[in-house]
Amino acid sequence: MSYKANFKVWRGDADGGDLQDYTVEVNEGEVVLDIIHRLQATQAPDLAVRWNCKAGKCGSCSAEINGMPRLLCMTRMSVFTESETITVTPLRTFPVIRDLVTDVSYNYQKAREIPAFAPPKHLGLGEYRMKQQDVERSQEFRKCIECFLCQNTCHVIRDHEENKEHFAGPRYLMRIAELEMHPLDEADRERAAQEEHGLGFCNITKCCTEVCPEHIKITDNALIPMKERVVDRKYDPVVWLGNKLFRR
Ligand code: SF4
Ligand code: F3S
Ligand code: FES
Repeated sequence: MSYKANFKVWRGDADGGDLQDYTVEVNEGEVVLDIIHRLQATQAPDLAVRWNCKAGKCGSCSAEINGMPRLLCMTRMSVFTESETITVTPLRTFPVIRDLVTDVSYNYQKAREIPAFAPPKHLGLGEYRMKQQDVERSQEFRKCIECFLCQNTCHVIRDHEENKEHFAGPRYLMRIAELEMHPLDEADRERAAQEEHGLGFCNITKCCTEVCPEHIKITDNALIPMKERVVDRKYDPVVWLGNKLFRR
């Protein structure tokens, strides 16, 4: 069964743009990315869209559908009624390059700012030992496909360009939490999270968790535990004294 759907797609570039109307054929079982591809094939050959796997695994096709940050390839047309107008716009938090393609280099920059895993120097490769439960704890975070939907959604930077410099965003605070939970990592992740990567900006609204296509509990399992440890450390009298004596 096929029908014609009404679409509004944002067309433009860094200098500006607007929503353009299209009527496109939809067939049973299709996802929004199929419709965007049909649009390219039939009416708008120069429409820019980033995609790769069409299986929800490469994280490339992130956009906003009716204002909700989503993967184009994992959003079934069947979630909309046939008469509904579907609006597709680029991620709002990152600068537009063209049409649905944004410049997500902010995220790569934040990734580069996090020092790598720092195991004890006396351990060689193949000598790492850790408990199974510690391995399992970080498995959830490793499911991240770097779609940046969480980064796009977090209000700390969504409407506040000025916060970008000081805030790593949920995806990268989660990376720091993963390293902080690693029993062999020796870097001071708690201090870095608070002082360099803006953990304090996060007021646990959980919007990042809501949009994660991998259903990672970013807030509950990464950000809140790290916040708790930062607070514990601040109020631990032994740590407080140590900081007074050695960190002047
Ligand atoms: Fe995407 Fe989830 Fe990874 Fe954020 S944590 S980048 S929403 S997969
Ligand atoms: Fe932002 Fe997620 Fe915290 S949306 S405010 S990082 S809980
Ligand atoms: Fe790879 Fe959508 S095309 S996640």
